[in-house]
Amino acid sequence: MKSLLERLFPPRPPAVRDALAADAGPLAHIQARAFRHGWGRDEFERLIAERAVRAHVVSEGPRGAPMGFVLSHVVAPEAEILSIAVRTDRRGRGLGLALLRHHLARLAAEGVTTSFLEVEEGNAAALALYRRLGYIQVGRRKGYYAGGGADALLLRRDF
Ligand SMILES: CC(C)(COP(=O)(O)OP(=O)(O)OC[C@H]1O[C@@H](n2cnc3c(N)ncnc32)[C@H](O)[C@@H]1OP(=O)(O)O)[C@@H](O)C(=O)NCCC(=O)NCCS
Repeated sequence: MKSLLERLFPPRPPAVRDALAADAGPLAHIQARAFRHGWGRDEFERLIAERAVRAHVVSEGPRGAPMGFVLSHVVAPEAEILSIAVRTDRRGRGLGLALLRHHLARLAAEGVTTSFLEVEEGNAAALALYRRLGYIQVGRRKGYYAGGGADALLLRRDF
């Protein structure tokens, strides 16, 4: 059920844009809360500036602060998703879907024909998102992730 705050101030529709150098700090913040091994602000600055990387940011409304991001490394005609995350308190509202849909459309527009990624087997939210957008499993790396030793699934989407 929606909170009173959400009913009074409903979230604005997702807006997706290219990431800018100034987004590096907020993106590092989102990443650090989403993953065991976060990347620093410097690493995001480097990636956003990297010629082979495509980086997009989703916000609520066109002038909103970044609520999520996705990065792909492109060696046409293939691309690999390096990372995707939505802010913890904004998940489950369609931001990830809008973000990845836009990202894949931009990749397709520049001639990418296949997108790959790795995802932990038990990551239900990410798997739902990827399957919704047409990714299929093409491989498995046993005990890939440290700690629990969970398997990594290799997914692929052909455009
Ligand atoms: C994966 C992630 C980016 C999804 O972002 P999001 O904004 O919450 O996703 P959306 O609200 O757009 O939902 C996308 C789909 O996932 C489903 N979904 C969302 N959260 C879910 C959950 N906890 N369990 C199962 N399905 C879930 C939605 O129902 C939707 O599918 P549908 O359209 O078929 O109903 C977000 O959960 C996240 O940042 N996770 C932590 C980082 C991470 O694991 N990244 C992926 C690494 S490979």
